[in-house]
Amino acid sequence: MTAPAPNKPTLSIETIIAELDKSTRMHAKLTLAGLHGMVEARAWGLKLARDLTLFRQGSLAWKDVDPACLLHGPPGTGKTTFAKALAASCGVPLVATSYSDWQSTGEGHLGSTITAMTAAFSEAIAAKPAILFIDELDSLPKRRGGDRSDYWNAAVNAVLKEFDRLKSVEGVVVVGACNHPEMLDPALVRSGRMDRMIRLSLPTAEEIEGILCYHLSEDEIAALLENKGPPLDTNRGD
Ligand SMILES: Nc1ncnc2c1ncn2[C@@H]1O[C@H](COP(=O)(O)OP(=O)(O)O)[C@@H](O)[C@H]1O
Ligand SMILES: [Mg+2]
Repeated sequence: MTAPAPNKPTLSIETIIAELDKSTRMHAKLTLAGLHGMVEARAWGLKLARDLTLFRQGSLAWKDVDPACLLHGPPGTGKTTFAKALAASCGVPLVATSYSDWQSTGEGHLGSTITAMTAAFSEAIAAKPAILFIDELDSLPKRRGGDRSDYWNAAVNAVLKEFDRLKSVEGVVVVGACNHPEMLDPALVRSGRMDRMIRLSLPTAEEIEGILCYHLSEDEIAALLENKGPPLDTNRGD
């Protein structure tokens, strides 16, 4: 076995990623308290967790719960991670779905896409109190007039109908996610639907440090700190 070269990381980027995967499994119950950054989203989530507890105890009416939000931001900013942590903190099941899930059920035929979408809403209703996480909402474009947009008009109308169905249901929280909120049909984000929009940004250096400390063990952090050179700089080519 040869000693590591001076100033070289003792942990390769692949090892760190493998360790992150392992510790994510270990922390199967990542909660809002274990998240770093995402200040506005965490504040909304913590209030929701408190309100859902009160609702379940019968001391808060459903009309006083703020039951929907739209998370937006570039890929990898933690939208899915947040939804999982939120469900864990609220102690309720997470029903995760996405536009591609709906579309993959029937070769993209409108009828089967709508059936799959409706089934996801029904699953969340059956599991209530529950969180329905709808990813890739910007795959549904804005409705426009004209024959050529019939498919999309019908798909967006069907989703809006499901949101309206939730108005008569108590206990389903909807968390939507997308990269480009400006592409959404305005009716999806109007009052009574996902009118609370929260942007997630890429983490700062300090937040990345917090994320790594959460996922890595003390030994792994010590090994990283022992390195003289930048531990994650794998692109220097030397
Ligand atoms: N404990 C944590 N706190 C905050 N962010 C985290 C934590 N653990 C992982 N993440 C972030 O979540 C990202 C995973 O993003 P993901 O949820 O898949 O993003 P998106 O759904 O927005 O594409 C990781 O790259 C990491 O930056
Ligand atoms: Mg995601």
